[in-house]
Amino acid sequence: MDEALSDAQNTAWRLLVRAAADRRSPMHTPVVATIAGGAPDARVMVLRAADRAAAALRFHTDARSPKCLAMDGAPVMVLAYHPGEAIQLRIAGTARIDRDSPLVDAIWAQATPFARRIYLVEQAPGTPLAAAASGLPAWVEGRKPEEAELVPARGNFAVVHIDITRIDWLHLAQAGHARAVFDAADGWAGEWCAP
Ligand SMILES: Cc1cc2nc3c(=O)[nH]c(=O)nc-3n(C[C@H](O)[C@H](O)[C@H](O)COP(=O)(O)O)c2cc1C
Repeated sequence: MDEALSDAQNTAWRLLVRAAADRRSPMHTPVVATIAGGAPDARVMVLRAADRAAAALRFHTDARSPKCLAMDGAPVMVLAYHPGEAIQLRIAGTARIDRDSPLVDAIWAQATPFARRIYLVEQAPGTPLAAAASGLPAWVEGRKPEEAELVPARGNFAVVHIDITRIDWLHLAQAGHARAVFDAADGWAGEWCAP
């Protein structure tokens, strides 16, 4: 592999791994795009993990949200831009919704009570409401839930695994832009292409 090509791929993974760990990284909140009934849909999600060895990304969501149905076993695209590095990543992959596994249990157990509280919301995401409201039960508004109170919320929590099939790396520079694509199908060898 040409050295600059492998540098590009290394940089992509360095940015993704940092983005998962660092709330201040602009790549911490990429856009995740899906197709539902032939129509595109997209939303911002918090990147929770980036694993180069597994070529996978991880997100968390409400198992009742419409995106879960649209994503499970389906092609998705994760779009992230880092202004400081002037790098755009368009990451194609296949999503898998995981609601019930030792990993999901472990992630749930490690999350703070406040992080888990949102899964106590009574209505499924997207349910019409008569007025603006959080949907949280009144008893937990404005306070930290106790462990026992969070038990019913566990069923609403899901992990989204994305198995990456392709990374499109674009670097903007005054001297000239550069673009490379890396495909799982060819062992991530990658190739340059016209930006
Ligand atoms: C900064 C930010 C971070 C978000 N993080 C998540 C997230 O990690 N998981 C999630 O399901 N929704 C997250 N959302 C909300 C989604 O963008 C979206 O509004 C919601 O999940 C409903 O999407 P859906 O109708 O496609 O299911 C986030 C929104 C913003 C603005």
